[in-house]
Amino acid sequence: MTQVSHRQWGEVSGRGAVDLWVLQSPQVRVEVLTLGAIIRSVYSRDKDGQIEDIVLGYDDLEGYLSDKRYLGAVVGRVANRIARGHFVVEGKEYQLDINNGPNALHGGLWGFNKAIWLATAVEGGVQLSLTSPDGDQGYPGEVQVSVSYTLQEETLTAEYQARSTKTTPINLTNHSYFNLAGQGSADIYDHEVSISAESYLPVDDTSIPKGETKGVEGTPFDLRKPVLIGRQLQEVPSPGFDHNFCLSSPGAAWTERHAARVCHPASGRVLEVSTSQPGVQFYTANFLDGSMTGKGGARYQKHSSFCLETQNWPDAVNQASFPDCLLRPGEDYRHITRFTFTTV
Ligand code: GLA
Repeated sequence: MTQVSHRQWGEVSGRGAVDLWVLQSPQVRVEVLTLGAIIRSVYSRDKDGQIEDIVLGYDDLEGYLSDKRYLGAVVGRVANRIARGHFVVEGKEYQLDINNGPNALHGGLWGFNKAIWLATAVEGGVQLSLTSPDGDQGYPGEVQVSVSYTLQEETLTAEYQARSTKTTPINLTNHSYFNLAGQGSADIYDHEVSISAESYLPVDDTSIPKGETKGVEGTPFDLRKPVLIGRQLQEVPSPGFDHNFCLSSPGAAWTERHAARVCHPASGRVLEVSTSQPGVQFYTANFLDGSMTGKGGARYQKHSSFCLETQNWPDAVNQASFPDCLLRPGEDYRHITRFTFTTV
């Protein structure tokens, strides 16, 4: 049985209140903010019953408002990168703002991570929704978006839905940063990761996929069996993992499948991720540099956490061989990702 409660957490001047929703099951406590549909905290027990918050974040609203690293947030309208922020849909050219080297990243300068979402209670959780107007950040069509977070025992389910008035690219994910030793711990080198992917997407020096899917066999991206993250980071090009792992082929049917497992042997905590999305970006927090003050005064350093951003393949709108990322009028966008928190 999950108990759900909420209260006002802060106020953004001129924009209104930001609420905190608390989802409490016998095993796990999840806190969600209506700003950015942010997962603010995940409290889970270790093998001895010790409770820690295992996601990075900030103590106050100010931290989230000035955040540039998407801590805990839902990112959209299109998560990850669009090459040069440029694409053509139904013969019409679109130019987005450039906010990451030469490319557009995570929905633009004012993406879904900065919006205040409307919240309603649902069985075991909360549903957050927003309207992204036609032309928002340069994207076509008015889009109705909702994300529901529900907690059942040790499983947090995120369900994303959207509809649009015009054909638009869409790619929604959650950008939580995890450290299974407890947020604020120095690094994730002692975590073991496995990802159920036979191939990944090699990228150019601006992190745009080159177009080919490459088999993981014989490469440092072979994570099909558990590997120690610290050791594996010595094998991948600096600054670390920031790559899409392919979970299914383009055109594959909508099915939920196992994506990844991370285990922290010292605490016994395990995170399992499953999803209906065709890819997952495994990111080892390469761009955290100790400059932000996080929860409890923590200074989050490079490799202090990891993200498993379930998603469509990056730059899919420009790469015809990638899974379709277009949402057309009358269609329903729907994806599910489950995070399960257990111990060994
Ligand atoms: C994603 C990207 C990274 C980085 C982070 C946010 O994980 O792939 O390159 O931009 O978001 O800092």
